[in-house]
Amino acid sequence: MKILVLNGPNLNMLGIREPKIYGKNSFADLLALLDQTAREAGVEIRQYQSNHEGSLVDAIQDAYGKFDGIVINPGAYTHTSVAILDALKAVSIPAVEVHISDVDAREPFRQVSYAGMACVKTIKGQGLEGYRQAILFLKDYLNK
Ligand code: DQA
Repeated sequence: MKILVLNGPNLNMLGIREPKIYGKNSFADLLALLDQTAREAGVEIRQYQSNHEGSLVDAIQDAYGKFDGIVINPGAYTHTSVAILDALKAVSIPAVEVHISDVDAREPFRQVSYAGMACVKTIKGQGLEGYRQAILFLKDYLNK
């Protein structure tokens, strides 16, 4: 089983960016957690981070026929990008949306998720652990 983990803008700044909201762990810590989860769950994980909307759309399109599932934290594009929503719908690969913070408890503009409309589940407010939960959920979902 192959899972693509996509991270959008500013997630490469984890540990530096607003640590009270996103925590003190770095992006490298997140990559280590993904590796560990892949080993534990017996799934193959590829990850890609970009600060550019079109690059994320390209990565979703490239996943067609190659990946069984997608875990995506689109960052701020969550709340603005119909293009990412349409790309997820176009490939029809089961996707889980992750947010490190509890977006529903923040500003009203963070409470709308376009990408989430194409996802089978949303995990929010669990910190980096949310990525592990998303991968385990997706593994179960794809096995059913
Ligand atoms: C985020 C929440 C978004 O509102 C924000 O723009 C991010 C990160 C999260 O993981 O909590 O960049 O997706």
